[in-house]
Formats: sequence, C-alpha cells, structure tokens
Amino acid sequence: MVTKSYQDSYGQSLAKPEDFWLDAAAKISWTEPPQQAVDSSTAPLFRWFPDGVLNTSYNALDRHVEAGRGDQDALIYDSAMLGIQQRFTYAELTGLVARFAGVLRRHGVGKGDRVVIYMPMIPEAAIAMLATARLGAVHSVVFGGFAPKELASRIKDAAPALVVTASGGIEPSRRIEYLPAVAEALQLAGVSDLPVIVRSREGFASPLSDHAGWLDWDAEIASAEPAAPVDVKATDPLYILYTSGTTGSPKGVVRDNGGHAVALSWTMENIYDIGPGDVMWTASDVGWVVGHSYIVYGPLLAGATTVLYEGKPVGTPDAGAFWRVIGDHKVNVLFTAPTALRAIRKADPEARLLQDHDISSLRTLFAAGERLDTDTFHWASQSLGVPVVDHWWQTETGWAICANPRGLEQLPIKAGSPSVPMPGFRLNIVDGLGEEVAAGKEGNIVLGLPLPPGTLTTLWGDDERYISSYLQAFEGVYATGDSGYRDDDGYVFVMGRTDDIINVAGHRLSTGAMEQVIGQHPAVAECAVIGLADPLKGQRASGYVVLKSGVDVAEDILVKDLIALVRRDIGAVADFKHVAVVEALPKTRSGKILRKTMRQIADGEEYVVPSTIEDAGVIDQLIGTLRPGAAGH
Ligand code: COA
Ligand code: AMP
Repeated sequence: MVTKSYQDSYGQSLAKPEDFWLDAAAKISWTEPPQQAVDSSTAPLFRWFPDGVLNTSYNALDRHVEAGRGDQDALIYDSAMLGIQQRFTYAELTGLVARFAGVLRRHGVGKGDRVVIYMPMIPEAAIAMLATARLGAVHSVVFGGFAPKELASRIKDAAPALVVTASGGIEPSRRIEYLPAVAEALQLAGVSDLPVIVRSREGFASPLSDHAGWLDWDAEIASAEPAAPVDVKATDPLYILYTSGTTGSPKGVVRDNGGHAVALSWTMENIYDIGPGDVMWTASDVGWVVGHSYIVYGPLLAGATTVLYEGKPVGTPDAGAFWRVIGDHKVNVLFTAPTALRAIRKADPEARLLQDHDISSLRTLFAAGERLDTDTFHWASQSLGVPVVDHWWQTETGWAICANPRGLEQLPIKAGSPSVPMPGFRLNIVDGLGEEVAAGKEGNIVLGLPLPPGTLTTLWGDDERYISSYLQAFEGVYATGDSGYRDDDGYVFVMGRTDDIINVAGHRLSTGAMEQVIGQHPAVAECAVIGLADPLKGQRASGYVVLKSGVDVAEDILVKDLIALVRRDIGAVADFKHVAVVEALPKTRSGKILRKTMRQIADGEEYVVPSTIEDAGVIDQLIGTLRPGAAGH
C-alpha cells in the first residue's frame, strides 16, 4: 500500500474532493454506498453523500461483532468517584444498545424523533446515544453542569419525544441531584408530561418514586425487545448539540449521519493513529463535542476500545489519576484539555506520581478545547516523553480543523501551534474587510465552503440563523470566530476569539448569556462580563455592574446574589465567582461597551482607547477596579 504524505492528502482533498471523500467513505459499511460526495445544489447549505444510506450505530457496533471482534472490549467505564471499573465487549455493548433502542421504540421514539439525554459520565449515557442513533432518531445530550433553565431551553428547541436521565452526577465535593432539575426543566419548557427514563444510582436523595410516571432504566431494559438498526439517509441528522452563541440562546449544531461517520473514521486512522484493538481515552464529558466525537463515536467506528472516565484530573484521589487510568487500561492515546494538564502540574509540578504507574502504552497525548500554552506543552512533553499534539476545533466542526496528523505523517510539532489544516478545510486568514493577510500577521480565521464532511450542516430548525451567524461576516466563507496567524511554514497559531465567547476550564461559555442573567437583577442598570486570563482555567468570567440610581443595596449582598443568580440560571459550570460594582462602563458614542479594552487593562496588556469613546474619564476611574494596584494610563 502506498502511504500518502500530509501534503498529498491535503492537496487532493482540495483539488479532487469527490475522489478524496468517496475514498474515505469506503471505510464505512453502507446499506447503499454513495456515488456522489457533495451536493452543492442547496448552497450555501451543502449535503455530504446525498445518495448514501447507512446506520451509525451499526457501524459503531454490529459490524465489529460480525467481523469476529465481539469479544474485544468496546468500552471501559472507570469511575474514580466510585472506585469501580466495568468492561463491555462489542457483543455486550451491541446487545445493550439494541435493547435500549427497543425501550425507546416502545415509548414511541422513531426515525427523526429527538431524545434529550441529560446524564453524568456513566456507560448508560453512551448506550442511550447509540440506541437513539440505532432507531434513526436524533439525540441531544445536555452537559450535567448546566442548570434547569439551560436544560429547559434545549428541550424547548429540540422538542424531544422523550428524556433520558440518571439519579445524578458526582462531583468531588457533592452529589448533583438530577431528578428535581429535570422536573423543573420540563415544567419550564411546558412539557411536564414528557416520558422520562431514569438510570437509578445509589446514594442520591431524590427517589424515582417521587415522579409519577417516570420509568426505571433497569426495569424497562429487562423486558425490552432488541431493535435492529434502522436505515437512514447519510444526510439525516444524527444529533443536535447545543453550544454557546453570542446571544443568550444556545445554537443547536446539527450533525448528519454519513458525513460524520466518514470524517470521524478518517480522523481515527490519520490524526490519532488508532485502529481496531487500540485503546483511546478522551478525558472529557459526553456533554461536549469532544465527548461525542472521541469518547463515543470515533473510537467505536474504528473498532477500538474507548475509556469513559468519571472523575477529575486531580483530587480523585490525587494528581496521579490520569497516569493510573493509562496504566490500568493500557491507553494508547490520551486526549484531554490543557486546563486538566495545568491542574495536574499545579498539584504535582515534578510529575512524581508518574513513578507509581506504568504508562509505557501511551503513544501520543492530544489536547484541545483551548490553546495549549507553551509552558504546559513543554511540561507535558518532558514529563510524559511522548509527542504532545495540540489540535484546534469547535463544536461546529466536530473534528479538528488543524492538527498534526500522526497516522499520516509525523510532521514537526511547534509549541503553541495546532499545526496545519486538515483535509477539506480551506483555511484562510483575513482582515476586517475579508482580504487575506500576510504570513505572521494576525487576522480572522475563515474556512472556504463547502466545509468538509462531519461539520455542521445547519442550526436546528433555523437555516437563517446558521447563515447569519457564520456565513455573512465574510463573503462566501465560514467565520470561525477565532483569530490567529500563519507562520512561513504554513503552521497556524490560534490566539483567541473575536466575539464574546470565553473558555473556562475547557468549557465554552457566552459572556452575553451571563450579562443577560445579571441584567435581570432589579438593582442593575447595566453590566459587562468579560473573560480574564486565568493561570489554571485559561479564562475566568468577571462581571462589572452599574447600579440603578437611587438603589440602596449592600454591595457584598448584591455580589452574592448575582453570583447565585448565574449559578441558578446557567449552572455551576459557568464558574462565575467575581463581580464588582462600578460607577460607569466605558462606551463608544454609539453605546457599545468597550469590553475588549476592559479585558486588556485587566490582563495588563497594551491597550489603545478608541477615539470613539464617549467619556475617556470612565477608563481612568475603572483602572483600579480592573487591575488593582495598577497606576493610571
Ligand atoms: N455536573 C455538575 N457540576 C459540575 C460538572 C458536572 N458535570 N462539572 C463541573 N461542575 C461544577 C464543579 O463542581 C464546580 O462547582 P463549584 O463551583 O461548586 O466548585 C463548577 O462546576 C466549576 O467547575 P470547573 O470549572 O470544572 O472547576 P473544578 O475546580 O471543578 O475542576 C478542572 C477544574 C480543571 C479539574 C476541570 O475543569 C477539568 O477537568 N476540566 C477539563 C474540562 C474538559 O474536559 N473540557 C472538555 C473540552 S476537551
Ligand atoms: P468548543 O465548541 O466548546 O469546542 O469550543 C471551540 C472554541 O474553543 C474554539 O473556537 C476556540 O476558540 C477554542 N479552542 C478549542 N481548541 C483550541 C485549540 N487547540 N487552540 C486554541 N483554541 C481552541
């Protein structure tokens, strides 16, 4: 077999996308193999493999059993929270998924129906996703750290036929009761009679019996008829995953079946270098895109073993937890967020705990979710002695836009860069007018259309919002919302967002959504939330509020109230812990709050006060609050 270089693959994917992607599609089992790669007739909305028919769950499970690998481990559940491990072979996982699909069908779920999954990191979360896909239905997984109101907005938008949940999630300091949260969300969404299936877990206070009509996972599955995979069109939706947009209402990113299966299977071989029998561990959560692609679908499409870890990098019980899991399960590839590495480094700077574990199985460490800072990159590379690969992607793309494709070619790794564009991504860096900028100059990172398979096809039920959110900022291209530059070798450096999305501990959050919550408080006239640099979590949200005139409220009580409000309405995951009351916010004459200038001052960066500022004195007043101890500008 002739192995292709990165340049050959990338070049072919742009010059001959039909050939490149139909070739990649041959790795998938189709009921009707596609003859066409991309359908451009509905541009700017594109459809991949328009004439292909398949089932994603079949590709992730049954076909490996049929190929004789039924006894191989498909999924290993490792709970550092409970101190237990559980293994599921491909045959066992296929059986469970088929039965749970039977349960869903019995409760009326069919092709195209939506199923909302609100679950902690337990195997049943993956089983529920794969069972939904088996029926040709559409799952929407909601991260357990989101509050009932956020869950309700997703339920309202997706209009599911059913909700699957569990008694709760376990955080090191507390147990999170899910059942009251789900009940509240259903009520807020106005669908209190929706069927709910509950995976009961021990040690939670809120019993299933408190919720009349809700169904018990075990009892349901015990009497279920296994359901066979249902054929769907490649272009039919597999899932909706809500992500923070620049407004308060989350965007429902839609992923199709065919493009997703083809793209992920290409990445497993060519980016991660993972094949049948290998072990991949993605230390994320099924509620995020990284969990969808590389805890559940990617490793299973590849016939590999995936590790589903319920725990933290530190404190469960110590900063050796990751090394313990690698050793216990002979992990070949670990994928995690830089914040997790920083947390481990902070607790164990010399990585002494590595000595207690055998991590010789580890071939590569991948990082994503935020920029892998160079200090952490060097620390991880030196401590682990394996290549550390940063790769850049977003919920919208579903897989890496830029990476160092270890299965294709071992390109040099440069600290601070996620390397080079992956096949199908026509990456360009442009100025505010959409003109390409020279190498070394920072600009907006845009991607030519069509985006490759596996990327979002639209936003759920709202093609217009998809077009206005991504395709209108720059003519004819997709705006990533990230800024960065390319060096002379074509390596990309991603430097940050150009909008009000922030990344806290690898979690994507909208400061606009937090401002909306804070703005509801009767004492608040106006507010700004900005993302400040944080040595552990990358960024942290910080709020600045101006009080309504005449309001008499104790500042410390107001601050506590606002923090509690964000926690109640968005969730603990917002990690919103700092608010300051200020006299005024700096604004342009047209009323736009100068958030970027505020952030630059707070982070101690160089800043230029825009000439359009309404009242330059406001900046001087604010400096002491934004950067305590700093002198005036
Ligand atoms: N359910 C409920 N609450 C959750 C939660 C979940 N699934 N995940 C986090 N939270 C809570 C935490 O308990 C914490 O609550 P607290 O304010 O009462 O302490 C709050 O949300 C903030 O959590 P986080 O920012 O994650 O901080 P942490 O101190 O708990 O943990 C890290 C810090 C770095 C260890 C952790 O954030 C981490 O492992 N991050 C990796 C993220 C990741 O994998 N991202 C996916 C992209 S690849
Ligand atoms: P999410 O949709 O939650 O995956 O968040 C996507 C955003 O996270 C991107 O638009 C980037 O701003 C940021 N991001 C993710 N991975 C990286 C990376 N490797 N380098 C820099 N930024 C990243």
